[in-house]
Amino acid sequence: MPTDAAPLLRLEGLRKAFGGVLALDGVTLDVPAGEIFGLIGPNGAGKTTLFNVVSGIFRPTGGTVHLGTRRLDGLPQDRIARLGVARTFQNLQVFGSMTVLDNVLTGCHRHGHSGAVASMLRLPRSLREEHRLLDRARAALETVGLGEFAYAQAASLPPGRQRTVEIARALATEPKLLLLDEPAAGLTTRETETLGELIQCIAATGLTTMLIEHDMSLVMGLCRRVAVLDQGKLLTVGEPTEVQSDPRVIGAYLGEEDPA
Ligand SMILES: Nc1ncnc2c1ncn2[C@@H]1O[C@H](COP(=O)(O)OP(=O)(O)OP(=O)(O)O)[C@@H](O)[C@H]1O
Ligand SMILES: [Mg+2]
Repeated sequence: MPTDAAPLLRLEGLRKAFGGVLALDGVTLDVPAGEIFGLIGPNGAGKTTLFNVVSGIFRPTGGTVHLGTRRLDGLPQDRIARLGVARTFQNLQVFGSMTVLDNVLTGCHRHGHSGAVASMLRLPRSLREEHRLLDRARAALETVGLGEFAYAQAASLPPGRQRTVEIARALATEPKLLLLDEPAAGLTTRETETLGELIQCIAATGLTTMLIEHDMSLVMGLCRRVAVLDQGKLLTVGEPTEVQSDPRVIGAYLGEEDPA
């Protein structure tokens, strides 16, 4: 399928080894700007590792990552976040004892420009910045429909809504690229539908989104294109229906069920 948007994210020959395991084995992939781009593959295929490398949690063993013209690989995680990459985690990372708003603010603070001393002394610049971050966090909560829960304890929300807190935290950093790692995991059918609508609304604002998901109906409904990973290698990229009927993809998933 021809690509009509310039790529926002470009991966070239990306490799990541953990001891003898090649979690990413030469992945070359373009993610077009403004799309919801799916990333699927059997368990252990390297999907989360790809997000971890793009967001700077891990340095790649080889290859490059570009966001637009900016090279990201080798940069520290907070620098990559400031350059516009935000993500959610496969295992929910919400601080249950904190309020929903404070959870979202933990994402923004890494983006503040005032130094620690200015913050401690509560200098005007620092106070202005606090207000700016608070506005962003509130706006992100409104976007995901959690405005009325800003002061609720995060743990008091059902799992579906806690996932949405994570998405709000990512959005509050005003990213260029949003990475969602299995956002529907553990959600009810109804919660998954609501999540799908939210992802669609977010994408409609032009934010490029990569979605790792095992829920194929969600992937089919949201993604224009899907990349399939298997044992660290890119098997194929195509439209969801195309990919689903690809014998190599079917083989990879069958291989997962029958490791012999
Ligand atoms: N921090 C790590 N240390 C060692 N090995 C790791 C680490 N992270 C991932 N791996 C290994 O890399 C491979 C890819 O794992 P990864 O978590 O990226 O897969 P995945 O596609 O996200 O799978 P799932 O669908 O189960 O989430 C696996 O063999 C895994 O055991
Ligand atoms: Mg994973």
